[in-house]
Amino acid sequence: MKFFVDTGDLDEIAKLNETGMLDGVTTNPSLIKKSGKEFIPLIKDICGIVRGPVSAEVAATDYETMIKEGRKLADIASNIAVKVPLTPAGLRVCKELSDDDVMVNVTLCFSANQALLAAKAGATFISPFIGRLDDIGLDGMELIGDIAQIYDNYGYDTQILAASIRHCAHVYMSAKVGADVATIPPKIIWQLFQHPLTDKGLDAFVADWAATGQSIL
Ligand code: E4P
Repeated sequence: MKFFVDTGDLDEIAKLNETGMLDGVTTNPSLIKKSGKEFIPLIKDICGIVRGPVSAEVAATDYETMIKEGRKLADIASNIAVKVPLTPAGLRVCKELSDDDVMVNVTLCFSANQALLAAKAGATFISPFIGRLDDIGLDGMELIGDIAQIYDNYGYDTQILAASIRHCAHVYMSAKVGADVATIPPKIIWQLFQHPLTDKGLDAFVADWAATGQSIL
């Protein structure tokens, strides 16, 4: 499973990149606002750090402006995935950019039918928002499983990018039901490494090794 980090925080991206676990980055207008940075220079900086796909979202909602914004964003770097909303205009932009070999991430997906439309439009990634579905009493994980089955039935190569991840269980559960990618907030990626028994076991090994008085180097 690929791990993307869902943030506009450059320092976090650089730190996570050092772990060797990071396969890409997703941003959205809310994350850009939170970063307090200028959008285009920030995206350029992220593309300078991470080799994998970096999702940069269009701001307009009409086709004419969205396609211009999408082309401008795609010109920033070869690893840009233009992020478009799951609307008729967004999918029209998706089809056009995909036909030109630009990666496209279709965002704000909340149903299997929407995911089917995105695959038909040639999306590189479809982003079902698990957490926001769970928030309203629906089952985000069931949606990921449904999309995986549908894409399998027809051999679509659109990758399922589990988004709106709120806790560690969302990560392995997405992996179990067939998501190709999870985009995860930095804090949750760091939590994935942790287990109290790992800490306890390591403390004991360190103490016992020190008691032997030996050195490997
Ligand atoms: C996905 O690309 C979105 O940026 C993100 O996962 C949304 O998550 P949220 O529901 O926590 O805002």
